[in-house]
Amino acid sequence: MTDRDDWGSRLQTDRPHSARVWDYLLGGKNHYLVDSRAGDMILQNFPEFAAVARAQRRFLVRAVRFMARDAGIRQFLDIGTGLPTADNTHEVAQGIAPESRIVYVDNDPIVLAHADALLGSTPEGECAYLDADVRDPRKILAEAAATLDFDRPIGLILLGIIGQVSDEEGPGRIVSELVDALPSGSYVALSDGTATSEALQTAVSAYNSQSVNTYHLRSPEQIGSFLDGLSLVEPGLVRSADWRPDADPSGLPQEQGHGVGAVAFKE
Ligand SMILES: C[S@@+](CC[C@H](N)C(=O)[O-])C[C@H]1O[C@@H](n2cnc3c(N)ncnc32)[C@H](O)[C@@H]1O
Repeated sequence: MTDRDDWGSRLQTDRPHSARVWDYLLGGKNHYLVDSRAGDMILQNFPEFAAVARAQRRFLVRAVRFMARDAGIRQFLDIGTGLPTADNTHEVAQGIAPESRIVYVDNDPIVLAHADALLGSTPEGECAYLDADVRDPRKILAEAAATLDFDRPIGLILLGIIGQVSDEEGPGRIVSELVDALPSGSYVALSDGTATSEALQTAVSAYNSQSVNTYHLRSPEQIGSFLDGLSLVEPGLVRSADWRPDADPSGLPQEQGHGVGAVAFKE
């Protein structure tokens, strides 16, 4: 349901929501007690989970930077945006190319409520927010076309969102429908949590039993298959923290995390 009129009933403060739990894990302030409790339950089972979240946000920054700076992408479609935090897609992209246009998409009412923080575009560029469900790619594509020109390359950002789609809901079909709409020269960044740890699987199963939106851990091969037909940019599908890591001036080891990510090119 994505009707703005139903905002109050969609909020559901008695059950954890992924956007709010993610915010808690990233050290944000936009969550309820039920979300911090769910986050703590995940961390008790799998203490490294906060590192998974941070590694994914850092991957977002490096992937958007790569697309904007190295590949010249000036339009971005970021689906499953999450609550605003540091280094949102438009800040990274417009920091490199102020004329960049960004469409954010999420179906969580709390993200909708905080969308203003995602709309602080440069005067040269544009930012838009769509209250929409990734399982309805046709609606997303139709509404995004008000801001993005689908005849020019687009950077599609799918971070921690395809894992929200169960196998029965056809995650591969959803990614294909989105990718098919992109012109050649476009890029896709995708990252999701992997079923590579029994403790993480236990933590996510416990979370799924309570939460409004369930998360589906997959093998790196299954996650990589969503990008079939595209050309992976070096270094391919790797742990998100290992995708073109920045030199860390502190000399501390990079946080690793049980998630993989890739950036792919549409020929
Ligand atoms: C794990 S968070 C990832 C946030 C951000 N992409 C990141 O990597 O930091 C998943 C986000 O997807 C959103 N989400 C979950 N299911 C969704 C759906 N069916 N359609 C659109 N957004 C969804 C949640 O509200 C949440 O903001």
